[in-house]
Amino acid sequence: KSILVLHGPNLNLLGLREPEHYGSDTLSSINQTLTDIATQAGIALETFQSNTEGDLVTKIQSIATTKVDFVIINPAAFTHTSVAMRDALSAVKVPFIEVHLSNVYAREAFRHHSYFTDIAVGVISGLGAHGYTLALDYAIRRINHS
Ligand code: DQA
Repeated sequence: KSILVLHGPNLNLLGLREPEHYGSDTLSSINQTLTDIATQAGIALETFQSNTEGDLVTKIQSIATTKVDFVIINPAAFTHTSVAMRDALSAVKVPFIEVHLSNVYAREAFRHHSYFTDIAVGVISGLGAHGYTLALDYAIRRINHS
């Protein structure tokens, strides 16, 4: 059983970037926490970050052959722009949770629309890095009961 965690553009800067919105945890510390939790549950977890839309599309397409059971994705700015990533997730038919560190609904109007929400299992927004561990907890329970 395996879970893929996808991080979109600029999330490589976590910890440095606008900590008032995104907190002080780095991406590598978030990834390490998620990996530890999954390992304890006996589930393989892969993380992938890219600033490039096409690389994220290609990674999502690869799920068709690599057998990923669940995806946790923070599409970052591509949340509000990427029909291509949405279409890739629909194509591989993988269940996913959309995570945002900040509460996008408390911010600029252009962040209120997501190309992912209506095809997601659920959305977590505004709980900081804790949102990822909550999403992972759900994913593990769901995988173990399937
Ligand atoms: C974000 C919210 C997006 O609007 C923004 O472009 C990001 C991060 C979040 O995690 O809060 O880069 O997805």
